[in-house]
Amino acid sequence: MELTTAETLPSFSAEELESPPERRIAVLTSGGDAPGMNACIRAVVRTASFRGTEVVGVIRGCWGLIEDHFRPLTSRSVGNIIQRGGTVLETSRCDPFMEAEGRSKAAENLKRHHVQGLIAIGGDGTFRGVEALAREQGVQVVGVPGTIDNDLYGTDYTIGYDTAINTALSAIDRLRDTAFSHERVFFVEVMGRQTGFIALEVGIAGGAEDIMVPETDTDVDALCRTIQGSLDRGKKGLIVVVAEGDEAGGAFALAEEVKKRLNMDYRVAVLGHVQRGGSPTARDRIRATRLGVAAVEATIEGKDRIMVGTQANRIVHVPLADVIARKKPFDSDLLRMVHMLAG
Ligand code: F6P
Repeated sequence: MELTTAETLPSFSAEELESPPERRIAVLTSGGDAPGMNACIRAVVRTASFRGTEVVGVIRGCWGLIEDHFRPLTSRSVGNIIQRGGTVLETSRCDPFMEAEGRSKAAENLKRHHVQGLIAIGGDGTFRGVEALAREQGVQVVGVPGTIDNDLYGTDYTIGYDTAINTALSAIDRLRDTAFSHERVFFVEVMGRQTGFIALEVGIAGGAEDIMVPETDTDVDALCRTIQGSLDRGKKGLIVVVAEGDEAGGAFALAEEVKKRLNMDYRVAVLGHVQRGGSPTARDRIRATRLGVAAVEATIEGKDRIMVGTQANRIVHVPLADVIARKKPFDSDLLRMVHMLAG
């Protein structure tokens, strides 16, 4: 079977556009892609189909809303995608959607396609845009948390986080081998522009000496003491995990600051977009599937301006206004555990 891509999806015929269906919803992926988005799209389309609702896919996220890039999706067109990373609907970061004019164009296009509800899979930026679309234009909107950063208020996990931390972890395990052989300190930079959720869990699972995150003040002198202490105790091969958004300026800047104070052999590894790709883990596929089903059910029930999320493994509905206004709590006490276990 041919793999679905935005290009292989059929277009609407003139008749399809003119005759409004009983019920039609739209789905899009927006912002940074995250492994598991395809599993979520599949769940949305198949749940809707089971409930007698048509689905249209919006290509390239909010750009597709503005540029009228809509494609009908069927149960068949989302076959063989559950295991694929990225998003078959493609995605983008779209500045015009952050303006009222862009959102008004988007609302016109949704209306022209007889769309009654929009499911938006994405992160904070996406939710800001679609919340405004709902408020200004009266479009029914349900959000699904999809970002590797896991930084959304109101949900324990976001789609893609589990795959990303496991990808980063397997890189750290490899770096540990070479760090040990050369007796080097490795500064490993992981993603997280504003938050350190990836760094925190990857650092714990990877046995890091220390973890640097934007949520806590970075104390270079304290880090130097930790590194020196470990070297003095005869440790060979040290890992320091740094969130890209750490206020010390990322792994290169931090490593240079430490090098000014300590005599050590070091290297920097920036894991970058590798963390965004790859086949989703089982955990991400299951979360994405549950959230996709919940999003369609919420849409059909008429829920509006909410995000479907999970708390303590249960599906919850959280107002989008809260998701974008509030900060997800960060458990910095876990860093105490890291310092204690550095050994
Ligand atoms: O999607 C979240 C994220 O991966 C962040 O962790 C990272 O800072 C950012 O996106 C990178 O964005 P882009 O792919 O646009 O460079």
